[in-house]
Amino acid sequence: MSFEEETSQTSSSSSSPPPSSSSSPPSASHFIGRKEDIVKTGRVTKLVNGCRDVLVLYHQGQLHAMDMRCYHSGGALQYGDIEEFNGRACIVCPWHKYKITLAEGEGLYQAVDDPTARPLRTHWRSKGVKQRIHKVTEVNGDVYVTLNNSSEAIESDVYQTEKYRAVLLPAEPKPKPKK
Ligand code: FES
Repeated sequence: MSFEEETSQTSSSSSSPPPSSSSSPPSASHFIGRKEDIVKTGRVTKLVNGCRDVLVLYHQGQLHAMDMRCYHSGGALQYGDIEEFNGRACIVCPWHKYKITLAEGEGLYQAVDDPTARPLRTHWRSKGVKQRIHKVTEVNGDVYVTLNNSSEAIESDVYQTEKYRAVLLPAEPKPKPKK
């Protein structure tokens, strides 16, 4: 294993950037924690750069980072299960069970071919990128996140705004503890 290992959220894609050869974290990155601790718990949340709540997940040897609150209605994704749908690893939001791919932040849903046909036939489709994904870098066992600063609007951005924090977040339902 190399001294530094960079994990990308597009690991299964051929467009994944090659691992960096530097032994220091990217200049705009933020320290999240030790990899061993994240592996142990499987997930960690952190307020990054004083402005963004980020969820970092460890799944099948890969680190992923995404906005912490679900693009649908602000659900607490850190309490979601990870499951595979159509061969793609997803976090399943604990609030209304939306499925979000770990690598790209796409919302997946089951489309129906012909709603009048019996039995109904369904297949998985993507709604496109709904959850903002951030870049994860590991250097010497330390995990860093570089915020995705793309100006393209992504639906999960709504739940990172000051208005949401100040007005809506205090009123949101408390997450149920996992059994
Ligand atoms: S808030 Fe996540 S599915 Fe509704």
